[in-house]
Formats: sequence, C-alpha cells, structure tokens
Amino acid sequence: MKKILFASALAALVVACAPKVTPAASTTTETTTSSTSAPASTANPATAKIEAGHQVYTAKCGRCHALKEPSHYTAERWVPILQSMAPKAKLSEEETANVLAYVQANAKKA
Ligand code: HEC
Repeated sequence: MKKILFASALAALVVACAPKVTPAASTTTETTTSSTSAPASTANPATAKIEAGHQVYTAKCGRCHALKEPSHYTAERWVPILQSMAPKAKLSEEETANVLAYVQANAKKA
C-alpha cells in the first residue's frame, strides 16, 4: 500500500513538472519499450539516442510553439538553441543530449 502511494506521489510529481503532454508514461513506457524493442535495435547506441530524442522532442518541444523542423537550423546552431530551450521544456541532461542527437542528425547541412 505504501508503495502504491509513493508511486502515485511520484507520478503526480512527474506530471506536475511537465504539465501537458507527458503522462507519467515517460518512466513506465520507456522501460517497457526499450526492453521490448531491444532485439530490433541491436543497431548502435547512437540510433537509440536519436530515437529517444525524437520522442522527447515531439512530446516536449511543441508545447509553446509549433514543433520546429530540425532541418531549419544547422547542427552548430542547435547547440545554443537547445541551451535556452532545454530548461524551458524542463529536460533532464540525458533528454537534452538525446534531443541534441536527434536534431543534429536531421539538421541543415551547413
Ligand atoms: C516554455 C515554452 C517553450 C518550450 C517548452 C520550448 N520552447 Fe522553443 N521557444 C519558446 C519561445 C518563447 C521562443 C521564441 C523566443 C526565443 O527565441 O527565445 C522559442 C523559440 C524556439 C526556436 C527558434 C529559435 C531561433 O533562434 O530562431 C527553436 C528552434 C525552439 N524554440 C526549439 C525548441 C525546442 C527544441 C524545444 C524542446 C527542447 C523547445 N523549443 C521548447 C518557448 C518554448
């Protein structure tokens, strides 16, 4: 019982931090999807980062404005943009790194 209470308190916290789009799913689904999709993504860790970044991006970066096209900016330009946007979107360091991997992988070729 205590555990359940604690879990829902945690979930409430997570939701409180990320008002809209992010249902507590972030923690739960991530673990399930990553374990189920593990065999398919025997690929490389970079691809996994990019995919994770894509998910964070679509979930958190369209809250205040329309989702920006990664290809509108060069990889270099994305660095300062994310520096200012990551805190706005309340991304963790890991999420920021993944989003950076995603946008840079799809960035405008300089
Ligand atoms: C809390 C609201 C908010 C969130 C969440 C947010 N942004 Fe923004 N974003 C803004 C505002 C406001 C501007 C326009 C003013 C500015 O450039 O600072 C902006 C501008 C931008 C621009 C244009 C910058 C430029 O120099 O042309 C990009 C690209 C961008 N955001 C990407 C993102 C990404 C990627 C995320 C997710 C990590 C994100 N935003 C999350 C509020 C937000």
